[in-house]
Amino acid sequence: MKFFIDTANLDQIKEAQDLGVLDGVTTNPSLMAKEGIKGAENIKQHYIDICNIVDGDVSAEVIATDYEGMIMEGEELAALHPQIVVKVPCTKAGIKAVKYLSSKNIRTNCTLIFSSGQALLAAKAGATYVSPFVGRLDDIGTDGVDLIAQIADMFNYYSFETEVLAASIRHTMHILQCVEAGADVATCPLSAITGLLNHPLTDKGLEQFLADYNKLNS
Ligand code: G3P
Repeated sequence: MKFFIDTANLDQIKEAQDLGVLDGVTTNPSLMAKEGIKGAENIKQHYIDICNIVDGDVSAEVIATDYEGMIMEGEELAALHPQIVVKVPCTKAGIKAVKYLSSKNIRTNCTLIFSSGQALLAAKAGATYVSPFVGRLDDIGTDGVDLIAQIADMFNYYSFETEVLAASIRHTMHILQCVEAGADVATCPLSAITGLLNHPLTDKGLEQFLADYNKLNS
């Protein structure tokens, strides 16, 4: 199971990288906007800055919605750094763009996946990753983790190499559920990753160890 961090915030990316368990980063236009990154050149530089912090794949999303625009933008993004994976929405133009980019050995992350049918098309087009949005399905009363399990089963059954990247992860329990459902990757907020560390018995046990040590050594 790989951990990506779902942010464009450099401090959080550094913190996750320093923890030693980070495998990559995903961004999207909303996350870039949240950091106040605007203008084509600043956006490109920000992607390069992220690549220079993390050892692993960095998803950079196209803004174009038409096929020609997506492939032009995708090629530009991929040329920025070898770690860049081009993120493309799961639309008709997006699937065609995934097919084209993968034929040029450019890795892709097909995003905004909300059904197993969409994931199937993206895998057939040669996507490196598909990103089903767990939290946004939960938001509308549909079990997002169930979709992860369906897609993971389908990819295993047909031996697709495309990896299931569970996205829109909101909390620690989502990560654990996605592990059980067979996701290859979870892209998470930093708080959901560090939440995996928390256990009251760890805190209690450590307190006891230190108290016992201090009794003899103070
Ligand atoms: O990876 C996609 C993610 O950023 C969307 O998350 O919380 O906006 O649904 P959210």
